[in-house]
Amino acid sequence: MMTHVNIKDLNRHIGEEVRLQGWAYRVRSSGKVAFLLVRDGTGLCQCVVEKSEQTSGFFDTVKRLPQESSLRVTGTVRAEERAEGGYELAVTGFELIHASGEYPITPKAHGTDFLMKHRHLWLRSRRQEVILKIRHTLVDAIRRFFNDNGFTLIDTPIFAPSAGEGASTLFEVDYFGEPVYLAQTGQLYLESACMSHGKVYCFGPTFRAEKSKTRRHLTEFWMVEPEVAFADLDDVMAIAEDFIMALVSRVLNDHRTDLEFLGRDVAKLAQIRKPFVRLSYSDAVDVLHSALAKELLEEDLQTKTARIEQLEGELESAIENVKDARKKWEQEKAAQREQAIREELSELREQVGNIPHHMELAAGFEWGKDLGGSDETIISRLHDQPVLCHRYPKGCKAFYMKLDPDDKRVVKNFDVLAPEGFGEIIGGSQREDDYDVLLGRIEEEGLAVEPFEWYLDLRRYGSVPHGGFGLGVERTLAWLCGLDHIRETIPFARMMGKIYP
Ligand code: 4AD
Ligand code: MG
Repeated sequence: MMTHVNIKDLNRHIGEEVRLQGWAYRVRSSGKVAFLLVRDGTGLCQCVVEKSEQTSGFFDTVKRLPQESSLRVTGTVRAEERAEGGYELAVTGFELIHASGEYPITPKAHGTDFLMKHRHLWLRSRRQEVILKIRHTLVDAIRRFFNDNGFTLIDTPIFAPSAGEGASTLFEVDYFGEPVYLAQTGQLYLESACMSHGKVYCFGPTFRAEKSKTRRHLTEFWMVEPEVAFADLDDVMAIAEDFIMALVSRVLNDHRTDLEFLGRDVAKLAQIRKPFVRLSYSDAVDVLHSALAKELLEEDLQTKTARIEQLEGELESAIENVKDARKKWEQEKAAQREQAIREELSELREQVGNIPHHMELAAGFEWGKDLGGSDETIISRLHDQPVLCHRYPKGCKAFYMKLDPDDKRVVKNFDVLAPEGFGEIIGGSQREDDYDVLLGRIEEEGLAVEPFEWYLDLRRYGSVPHGGFGLGVERTLAWLCGLDHIRETIPFARMMGKIYP
C-alpha cells in the first residue's frame, strides 16, 4: 500500500503518484472537472478530478462531497502556480472514509458567538489553524529562551493555600474540606526554587476569577514566569527585553506568511528593536495628562467616525449584492462581506462610544491608581517599541514587590506594554528581600501571616536581592498576530460566562 504524503511536502514529489489523507475543505465543479480542496493539517491542496473512465467510479461522489468529509486521494503531483500552495494533484484514485453530515460552519458568514459555540469544529478553519500553529511556535520559543540561557524548569503547584495576586480573583476549590485556590501565579514557589538553582522558570495554566468580560482577560490562561537570584529591577527588565526580542524574531522568522495571511502588519513587528522605551509610572501619568494623549483620542474619534460613515454606505450595497447574486458562491461571498461590515461596524460603534470616557479617564487620572486598560492603550499607542513602565505606587501593586529605597511611595516593579495599543503582556518586579519590611507589607495588606511563614523563611535564611516576571502567552500571541480579542489565541477559551465546549 502506498504511504501517504503530507501536503506541505508535495514539492518533493513532483511528477510522482502520491496519496494524501485529509478532509474536504471545499468542492467546486463544472460539468467535466471537480476541484476538491483537501486540507490535512499541514496545508491545502487542490485535487483535480477529471471525468474519465478512470474516475467514473467516484467522480459523482466527489462532486457532491459534503464539506469536511474525510478521505484518501491518490494522484500525480504537478506544479501549478495558481493553485493554493503552488501544487495540485491530478486525481487517479479516491477513497471516502466518512461522509460528513451537513457541516455547521459553511463558507457563508457566521458571527463570532456562533463560531465560539462551535469551537471544536471552528479549530479546523484555516485562520484558527494558523493562529494555533503560531501559538505552538511561541511556546517553543519561550521554552527555548529559558532552556538555552541557564534557567531550570520548576513546575509549581496548581492547588495553592493562599492568594499570590490579590484575593479578588481567586477560584476556590474544596480540598478535602479545606478551602484552597487555583494558582494565580507560581511566583512565590519559584522564589524558593531560585534560592536553590539561581535561575528558574515555571510555565503552566494560571487561573483568575476575572469578573468582567474584556478582550484581554481569560479566567484560565498560560503564563511563563522566570525568577532570578542576585538580580535587581534593571537586571530583570533587561531579561524581559531580550526575551521579547527572541520571541518576536522567532515568530517573524517562522511565520511571516502566516502573519500576512492573518492580515498582520508585519513591518510593525519587524521594526521592534532594543532598547525598549523605559518610562516611570509618574512620567506615564504625565503622558496621560498631556495634549498628545488628548490629540490621539480626538484623532481616533474623527477617523473612526469617518470609517463608520463609509461602512454604512458599503453595507447598503453589500445587502443589495446579496439580493442580486445569482450564483451560490457569489451570494456566499456577498454575505461574508455583509457580515464582515456588520462586525466591523458594531466594533467601531462600541469603540467610538467609549472614547469620551477614555478621554475623561486619562485627563482625570490620579497618581496612585493602577493604569487601566484604556490608559495602557494610550501609552502603548504613543510608542512604536514596547514600553517598560516601572515604579508604580505600592498601593496598587502586590505585597511582595520591593519598596524603592529612593522613593518609598513606589515599588521596584515594571509592566511591559506591547505597542499599537495591545497593552500589558508582562508584569514583574524585584521582590522584597528584607524580612521586617515584607512582614510589614503582609500585615498592611490585611493578609494572614501564617500561610506565608514558609515564604518569610526565604528572608530568614540567606536572603538575596531577586526578581522576575510573568508573561501571558495569550496576550502576547494576540499582539504578535494582531488580534483584537484574546479568545482566538487559546484552543478552548475560558472566560466569564463561557465554559462550553
Ligand atoms: O501582572 P501579573 O498579574 O503578574 C504576576 O502574576 C506575577 N506573579 C508575575 C511574576 O512576577 N512572576 O500577570 C502577568 C501576566 C500579565 O502581564 C498578562 O500578560 C497575563 O499574565 N495575565 C493574563 N492574561 C490573560 N487573562 C488574564 N486574566 C490575565 N491576567 C494576567
Ligand atoms: Mg499585571
